[in-house]
Amino acid sequence: MVIKVSGLNKYFGGHHVLKDISIAINGGEVVSIIGPSGSGKSTFLRCINYLEPFEGGEINVLGSVLKPKMHEKKDEPYIRDIRTKVGMVFQSFNLFPHMNVLENIIEAPCHVLKKPREEAEGKAMELLKKIDLADKAFSYPYTLSGGQKQRVAIARALAMEPEIMLFDEPTSSLDPELAVEVLETIKNLAIEGKTMVIVTHQIAFVRHVCHKVLVFNEGRIIEQGDPDQVFINPCNQRTATFLMHLKF
Ligand SMILES: Nc1ncnc2c1ncn2[C@@H]1O[C@H](COP(=O)(O)OP(=O)(O)OP(=O)(O)O)[C@@H](O)[C@H]1O
Ligand SMILES: [Mg+2]
Repeated sequence: MVIKVSGLNKYFGGHHVLKDISIAINGGEVVSIIGPSGSGKSTFLRCINYLEPFEGGEINVLGSVLKPKMHEKKDEPYIRDIRTKVGMVFQSFNLFPHMNVLENIIEAPCHVLKKPREEAEGKAMELLKKIDLADKAFSYPYTLSGGQKQRVAIARALAMEPEIMLFDEPTSSLDPELAVEVLETIKNLAIEGKTMVIVTHQIAFVRHVCHKVLVFNEGRIIEQGDPDQVFINPCNQRTATFLMHLKF
């Protein structure tokens, strides 16, 4: 088991946004999260690498335990260590605009992992070849399409050699055709056996690639299981209603 969430509770002020979430994820498992807007999907992902502190429960990530009231300063090395093992890709690509693609990718390996520049560049070029963007190594983000930017963002996260990857709606700002190329990149990671948690409403992708889907609603996991079973024959009425609004 690489992620074990036990009784996670999270509040924003008086607003209870995650309610007693418990879930275990095994190494090599690809888990998707779906659910209505505001149900807590992003907040849940952000808790996994402590981008959001939480008030109750604990999260065991690769044997390290995150718990309430961790201290930003005192526990900083501990939290940073977890963040280097857990890569995250967001909906908006967040590339550094003043750096070219290669510089974007080697930034963290050089500065956080203290890798020699040459070694980091070699690894970055390997990653760019893998996502078919080797010819863009010296291009600046503004010259790339949305799909290309997102693939660079994925390569940048992978450059840290994370054991787990978290994706928060990685294709929702992209045209359908560009979304396909990003999903293909993520699918290849699944084939390599990378553990991933992916918030996405790309149902075909979830059915073909993910081992499990979690359905969030109002801060709870209301249903979970094999994607085919959940999509074709949901147990929960709320899941059924939500799915009616999605295109298959
Ligand atoms: N920084 C914040 N401060 C206060 N409330 C927040 C904050 N971030 C999120 N929330 C609230 O927490 C709840 C869960 O938000 P979250 O972003 O996790 O939902 P989501 O399921 O990812 O939604 P979406 O599908 O729209 O991305 C929402 O009610 C939201 O308004
Ligand atoms: Mg969200």
